[in-house]
Amino acid sequence: MSAVVPLPAPEAITVRAAAKINLQLGVGPIRPDGFHPLATVYQAIGLYDDVTVGSAEDWSLTITSHDALDIGGVPTDDSNIALKAAHALATHSGVDRAASILINKTIPVAGGLAGGSANAAATLVALDRLWDLNTPDEDLLKIAATLGSDVPFALIGGTAIGTGRGELVEPVADNGSWWWVVAESEVGLSTPRVYTEFDQLVQDASDPQIDRNLLASLASGDIEALASRLSNDLQRPALHLRPDLREVLDVGDGHGALRSLISGSGPTCLFLCADHASALAVRQGLHAEGIERVQVAPGPVAGAHVVDYA
Ligand code: C5P
Repeated sequence: MSAVVPLPAPEAITVRAAAKINLQLGVGPIRPDGFHPLATVYQAIGLYDDVTVGSAEDWSLTITSHDALDIGGVPTDDSNIALKAAHALATHSGVDRAASILINKTIPVAGGLAGGSANAAATLVALDRLWDLNTPDEDLLKIAATLGSDVPFALIGGTAIGTGRGELVEPVADNGSWWWVVAESEVGLSTPRVYTEFDQLVQDASDPQIDRNLLASLASGDIEALASRLSNDLQRPALHLRPDLREVLDVGDGHGALRSLISGSGPTCLFLCADHASALAVRQGLHAEGIERVQVAPGPVAGAHVVDYA
C-alpha cells in the first residue's frame, strides 16, 4: 500500500477575467450616496486581462501589456483596485500574508469595459486559491461589491442582470452565440464625468426597469430582436463629451453591423454583427477609415477563472 503524498500548494496562480459590455444600461436619478440606480444587462465578452499572484514577503504590483495597450493611466500604488481587492480578501479572511500581483492587460483602460473590475475579480479568485481559503461565492460577491459596482459581474461572467448600483447580479438565459466588434479610442473617458454629464442632460430620469423584451431576445437567441433592443442611457452624455465617436459608430453601421452602441460610459464603440465573417468585414471597414485598434470578440464568455498554476 502506497502512502498518499499531498501535493505542495501552488506557488503562483493565474486567473483570467473578461471585459464586460452592457446590452442595456438604464440609469435613474442620482442617489443620496452619489451613485445612480441601474437596470442593466451585462455580458462578458472575449477580451481578457490575466492576473498572476505569487507568494512573496512584501506586496508588489506590476502592470504589463503584451498587446501594446496604453497602460500609462493604471495606478501601481494602493489606489489600484486589484491591490484593494487583495487587502479586502486578506482582511475578510484574517490572513496576514503578502503576495506579488502581475496584471497583463488586453482590456482597454478607461474604455467603458470594466477592465479594472476584471482585475479586482481575478485577484480575489487567484488569492483565494493561493491562500487555500475556499471563500464561499456569496462572500466573494459581497467583497466584490465593496470594491466597485461592476466587480460582482466580473466574478460571474456570462450574461446577467445588474440592479442596485449594478452590484446585485443575477444570471439570465442567453442562448445566442454573439459576435461583437470592439473599437477602442485613443483617449479614455472618466466614468464619473459621464455620469455628471448624464445628470446635466437628463433632468427627468426615472427609476430604470429591466427590458423584458431584451431578455426574451437573449433567451430565444434572436439576433435581429437583440439588435433592436440594445440601449445605453450613457450614450447621449458620452457622445456629448466626445462627438467624434458618432463617426466611428456610423462607419461600423455602414459596413454591415446590425447595431452600433457605446460601451458603458464609453468611449469604446461596439458593433453587434450577424456572424464572424460580418464582424471581420466591420473591422476591416473601421481599419480602412483609420480606426486602428479594433478587435473581434465573442460573447457571452465565462467569469473569472483559473488558467494556469505552477
Ligand atoms: O462603482 P464604481 O467605483 O465603478 O463607480 C465609479 C464611479 O462611477 C462612481 O464614483 C460614480 O461616480 C459613478 N457611478 C454612478 N452610479 C453607478 C455606478 C457608478 O454614479 N451605479
